[in-house]
Amino acid sequence: MSYLLHIDSSSLGTGSVSRTVADTARAAWGGPVVHRDLAASPVPHLSAAGITARVTDRNQHTPEQAQAIAVQDELIEEFLGAGAYLFTVPMYNYTMPSVFKAWLDQIMVVDRTLNFGAEGPAAAGRPAILVSARGGGYGPGTPNHGKDFVVPALETILGDPHCLGLDLRTITPELTLAPVNPALAALIPLHEASLAGAHEQARFHVRKFTELHSV
Ligand SMILES: Cc1cc2nc3c(=O)[nH]c(=O)nc-3n(C[C@H](O)[C@H](O)[C@H](O)COP(=O)(O)O)c2cc1C
Repeated sequence: MSYLLHIDSSSLGTGSVSRTVADTARAAWGGPVVHRDLAASPVPHLSAAGITARVTDRNQHTPEQAQAIAVQDELIEEFLGAGAYLFTVPMYNYTMPSVFKAWLDQIMVVDRTLNFGAEGPAAAGRPAILVSARGGGYGPGTPNHGKDFVVPALETILGDPHCLGLDLRTITPELTLAPVNPALAALIPLHEASLAGAHEQARFHVRKFTELHSV
């Protein structure tokens, strides 16, 4: 059985809602896991050396390019070695935490993880779960509707066949600030329902994935 690659990006540890939902998915998975905590150990931002190294013969690399490509190689090999994925990417300032964006910039490489030809991306169709907790509510009819720039972006980047092409399921525990912000206290029951649903979805998706895919 290949491993589940579990990538965390919430700056919070035990206080993170996304991480607790991921724990539920992990418990349902039961197989081998490789865990990378981007908050505890951020990867470097993509540098000029990292970009130019991709289009330069490896024998011609400067020391900076060799160092930058080694970072990409390690992260890409870890990504491609997985049979399934679990990402925790909370909403920070309407978008994703910068540590997750830095990781994406390192691994999104044409002819390695991306392929624009008939072949499709290297990890196409592999099962993946995205858990994205958010302090507010973003559903239809709420004042924030249309202001979620995390999930739509990641559903494209992770799930679109012109990007990573994973078989992605998204879980969004909402209103996580309701229990800590007195102004949102009336929304606590909605938050609790959303959180209970998120844990249930985590169990459901892992069960489905292990039934449908040989992971
Ligand atoms: C730096 C930062 C920015 C945030 N920005 C937003 C935001 O734009 N919209 C929102 O609804 N919640 C926002 N929040 C609240 C988080 O989305 C919420 O606390 C969520 O539960 C964080 O995920 P986690 O519990 O997995 O750490 C922000 C929190 C932090 C720390």
